[in-house]
Amino acid sequence: MFYVTTPIYYVNDEPHIGHAYTTVTADALARWHRLLGEETLFLTGTDEHGLKVQRAAEANGIAPLEQADRFARRFVAAWQALGISNDDFIRTTEPRHHQAVQRLLQACYDRGDIELGHYEGLYSVADEAYVTAEEVPELERQGRPVIRMEEENYFFKLSRYEPALLDWYDAYPGFVQPEIRRNEALGFIRQGLRDFSISRTSIDWGIPLPWDPRHVTYVWFDALTNYLTAAGYGTADPAFPARWAGARHLIGKDILRFHCVYWPAMLLSAGLEPPRSVHVHGYLLVGGEKMSKTRLNQIAPATLVETFGVDGFRYHFLADQRFGPDGEFSFEGMMARYNADLANNLGNLAARVAAVVASKCGGVGPAPRAGSPLAEAAARAYEEAAGAWERVAPSEALEATWRLIREANAFLEANEPWKMDPGPAVDGVLGDALEVLRLVALLASPAVPGSCTEIWRRLGLPGSPEEQRLPAAAAWGGYPGGLPVRKAAPLFPRLTA
Ligand code: MSP
Repeated sequence: MFYVTTPIYYVNDEPHIGHAYTTVTADALARWHRLLGEETLFLTGTDEHGLKVQRAAEANGIAPLEQADRFARRFVAAWQALGISNDDFIRTTEPRHHQAVQRLLQACYDRGDIELGHYEGLYSVADEAYVTAEEVPELERQGRPVIRMEEENYFFKLSRYEPALLDWYDAYPGFVQPEIRRNEALGFIRQGLRDFSISRTSIDWGIPLPWDPRHVTYVWFDALTNYLTAAGYGTADPAFPARWAGARHLIGKDILRFHCVYWPAMLLSAGLEPPRSVHVHGYLLVGGEKMSKTRLNQIAPATLVETFGVDGFRYHFLADQRFGPDGEFSFEGMMARYNADLANNLGNLAARVAAVVASKCGGVGPAPRAGSPLAEAAARAYEEAAGAWERVAPSEALEATWRLIREANAFLEANEPWKMDPGPAVDGVLGDALEVLRLVALLASPAVPGSCTEIWRRLGLPGSPEEQRLPAAAAWGGYPGGLPVRKAAPLFPRLTA
């Protein structure tokens, strides 16, 4: 089972392109694994409890659940508008989640890893975390004020899990990727781990502890458990173990400590295995700064979709932003890459082939040649793309696919079928080019699904790229020939600033 998750997003904030970045990446991965014929579960959702949401609700003069309903709907709508193919959308206010959180809490409590304690310290509401005095100036600079909190809390005995975590990291070197983030997580663990507070008595917007309902669960224990809930943990669904064994989390580096240190320890405490892997990406920066509500530098996906279309939007975040390092977002950069890769390379190939098939082959697509000079390039593109998706490197998968597109364009320019007389020679060249387009529609479909379905249709092929199965469908020669090839409006109209 390929089980891929995004973080669940807080319902105090509008969906912005930072959220979309992770979600589009998870979507493309899910689509790739479906093409491979794997059973796939793709989960996203919203994180609805905690002080941050309670305060946002108060500021809006509404009840927390209404706040959650309102914003959860916005995330659902934003993902629909981006063609996100999630199989499930979890909200932490759902009964199934309540059940899973209580089950996990009870399991850790029964293991003796949750103890009552007293906490007094500095707390950042924006981060939903206790902070140290040294962190305060930087947080305040970022507009994340700190308050003093004094509470009776239950604590999770994270300090006990240092050796078990180090053993886990040793046994599973690919647990956290990329390597630089793995080292960061290992650094946290080796520094020495402090127990962390998992409950609050001062708020009631949360899930009560099963053995002491005066306390509600602190956001992170609640939030992280969503990944178990959707796999069926709370209801002891018989499918749970198989789903959980394939779990891969996609996250931004802001929540590394929670996913790579707290979470595996909580799971080990409850007698469960940590997820198979955690894939961490950097920040999308706008004007050199991370997007955030307080900095007012957030960009809504819809404003970019207006200009670039859904696939133009998706392509940018998959091809132009590398998964891993921070990346600066710029409208100009996005436009340049759109024009180069989509309008020119892919758009031209599709338009040219359709035009020449119309003029030289009566609009009927010829079959490719078995010994085509493009066959090797196509096989290489598949191998490289498959390897890159496996490494969660969408930009590399798309680079490999675009190399094939460029080779096909160069091949057409070298052969100039538009100057040839109708006959077997022109048929051979165009059959090869049509086959490349079929393969590109397949390989690029996780990234730009709508356009690839359209290319498929224009090639006269039945069904859609999504219905194909890899690797069989990637073998050279799948385009049967004899199909009507349609000429139509540009797939990606050229944009000017
Ligand atoms: N609710 C917690 C996560 C709980 S997961 C069990 C949370 N929510 S959040 O709404 O703040 O979303 C954080 C996530 O959104 C990041 O990890 C990342 O996936 C995405 N991003 C938000 N802003 C981002 C950027 N500026 N750049 C890249 N990703 C960003 O934390």
